Amino acid sequence: MQHDLLHAENVALRDIARQHETPTYVYSRAALTQAFERFQAGLIGQNHLICFAVKANPSLAILNLFARLGAGFDIVSGGELARVLAAGGDPKKVVFSGVGKSHAEIQAALEAGIFCFNVESANELDRIQEVAARLGKTAPVSLRVNPNVDAKTHPYISTGLKNNKFGVAFEDALRLYEKAAQLPNIDVHGVDCHIGSQITELSPFLDALDKVLGLVDALAAKGIHIQHIDVGGGVGITYNDETPPDFAAYTAAILQKLAGRDVKVLFEPGRALVGNAGVLLTKVEYLKPGESKNFAIVDAAMNDLMRPALYDAYHNITAIAPSTAQAQVYEIVGPVCESGDFLGHDRSLAIAEGDYLAIHSAGAYGMSMASNYNTRARAAEVLVDGAEVHVIRAREQIADLFKLERTLP
Ligand code: LLP
Repeated sequence: MQHDLLHAENVALRDIARQHETPTYVYSRAALTQAFERFQAGLIGQNHLICFAVKANPSLAILNLFARLGAGFDIVSGGELARVLAAGGDPKKVVFSGVGKSHAEIQAALEAGIFCFNVESANELDRIQEVAARLGKTAPVSLRVNPNVDAKTHPYISTGLKNNKFGVAFEDALRLYEKAAQLPNIDVHGVDCHIGSQITELSPFLDALDKVLGLVDALAAKGIHIQHIDVGGGVGITYNDETPPDFAAYTAAILQKLAGRDVKVLFEPGRALVGNAGVLLTKVEYLKPGESKNFAIVDAAMNDLMRPALYDAYHNITAIAPSTAQAQVYEIVGPVCESGDFLGHDRSLAIAEGDYLAIHSAGAYGMSMASNYNTRARAAEVLVDGAEVHVIRAREQIADLFKLERTLP
């Protein structure tokens, strides 16, 4: 898509950059809403719950928007639970994943009355039993099983293979379910599986689901009735030239496998709902010609958007306004003192110092993975709604960065 002047809904990105300065994350309410509604459209008539994976974008405004659309949430920490509650999310629609749930986090989740714990180990099951007994409560659980399928994605974000830390080994699941069914303060409710992220083919999802359904049947034969199947998240998006399955194809394929079963289905999409609903706006500080490469040094860096440095991830980068400058090939880099601090390699752009760029597909795992490395204040976040621009997170102030610190007496 080539625009002369890039817009988010009815607002020119240039106006946002001028008014709110840079770096700034810009999200579109319409794009967020549309993504959620499109995902949901394939599930009409099916008992389901879409649990947005909070880690992809934990902004209160975005969580609140999804809550208003009826979403539930997939959380992985007590902090994310607190955010969901602060954003008006319904705790009865929350599932709690993650391999390291602490006593305090389990207690907070039981007290909030979440929908289900996605249990990732035998010892975690014991711990949940212990905390629930102490509180006089019953904990609804699923076991997160590891189906050992290859999600064919980046190794850092593939989670369903035998050799990673997630979930209960498939071979151990039956035995652990039998144990769970005996525990007095545990209510065996479902089964859960999440195999990875940025998955661009249907087959890994379906292979995993086949295995899960085999387990569900084996459990039924033992008198353990599974009421919901959580198929996890992981649907990819287009950053460059990827062709992930569209939502309709994905949900149809899943539902087809579930045909004839009286079961609720849960989804945990993160990236697919927010990734392409956000851009990161940045300003060109310097153009620096080099012997073998030309650098465009921008005011956003790896601390703002870590994905290129961490995964060598590709994000499209465009100028947001037309320019009379000569197009040249640039390394797009930030001010952080690391050679790995880049946002894009070999990008042909017609730009001058002071121009603004949009780094695309930045709505997922952008701000949520930002840090203060190099004592850089984190970016502002705005959400565009039609012609209105709402600041949903003010730019961090430098003084805030060390307000918890003390020098020695
Ligand atoms: N459910 C569980 C249990 C997860 O671990 C994840 C993501 C999701 C759902 C959501 O997955 P999604 O639909 O967003 O693919 N930082 C990496 C991605 C890490 C994903 C971790 N788990 C990135 O920037 O690509």
